[in-house]
Amino acid sequence: MHAENDRNDPQGPGGHVPVMLDRVLELLAPALDRPEPVVVDANLGLGGHAEALLAAHPSLHLVGIDRDPTAIERSTVRLAPYAGRTTLVRAVSDELADVLAGIGRRRIDGALFDLGVSSPQLDEAERGFAYSYDAPLDMRMDREEELTAESVVNTYPVADLIRILRDYGEERFAPRVAHLIAKERAREAITSTKRLAEIVRTAIPAATRRTGGNPAKRTFQALRIEVNAELTALERALPAALDALTLGGRVVVLAYHSLEDRLTKQILTARTRDTSPPGLPVPLPAHQPRFALLTKGAELPSEEEVARNPRAASARCRAAERIREAVDES
Ligand SMILES: C[S@@+](CC[C@H](N)C(=O)[O-])C[C@H]1O[C@@H](n2cnc3c(N)ncnc32)[C@H](O)[C@@H]1O
Repeated sequence: MHAENDRNDPQGPGGHVPVMLDRVLELLAPALDRPEPVVVDANLGLGGHAEALLAAHPSLHLVGIDRDPTAIERSTVRLAPYAGRTTLVRAVSDELADVLAGIGRRRIDGALFDLGVSSPQLDEAERGFAYSYDAPLDMRMDREEELTAESVVNTYPVADLIRILRDYGEERFAPRVAHLIAKERAREAITSTKRLAEIVRTAIPAATRRTGGNPAKRTFQALRIEVNAELTALERALPAALDALTLGGRVVVLAYHSLEDRLTKQILTARTRDTSPPGLPVPLPAHQPRFALLTKGAELPSEEEVARNPRAASARCRAAERIREAVDES
């Protein structure tokens, strides 16, 4: 599909619909309502949110980051009308501070994290993200990285597989799945999504299999998180974005599974808490929170949005604003 034909299609290239778009724009707007604001889109994808932000704020400069070179190529085409106001960089989001330094900036007014995989990554069968297609077990967002799902599945010790399936997939039958993987790979290397999905299906007790969707979902999620070190990247990138925010600057995070959302909540809560020791007569500046939460708990997409775009169903939105400079910067 050609971006040129899609420019006026709110779904964007390939039918991709930016998740919770109106809410993201609303949350970021006050921070970008100033002369020549700068926003970082740390998960550029197809540039859907980016395009809407650029259209809504005529003097906005957008720094778009994605680790997938295909995402950079496609969004470069889509955002061509805004080429003078964009810097699109292929990088991992935790390199955010270096990316900013590379363009001579230290502070930003807004940041958006739309985590996880993009629709094209899921829909292009050969990338191996989806259990619904038979494809090589790949799952790399950046195909120049070495680690693939195939190497995780065929070389990791059983104990590591159990840990990954339990921690990243929240798979309660992690030991059963890991042991069956070990048994099967001893017979013949596991190289396809179809065979892995069948192994998982066999490992899960029949009574459980009848409920809760495809049993392979949790294993595939766990492998994807391991292959792309997704939580490690977020653990570094979100604090880096918060550090870079100007006063009144805002960050918005869209998470798609409970681990991402929990980590986001932990990072934001730690920054929005007053750490003054109890009983002090005057609050100590060093202990006062630098940030305030803008969302009460995690916000969910509307039923109407989920009906239109089922991939939005698992989205959880959290946001925060810088309300004080760090002590040594003021
Ligand atoms: C859900 S999509 C973003 C969609 C985008 N907001 C839009 O409207 O088109 C997530 C994107 O983030 C990228 N990504 C995931 N983790 C990343 C990371 N740690 N660093 C950089 N890019 C990452 C993926 O390659 C994918 O293109």
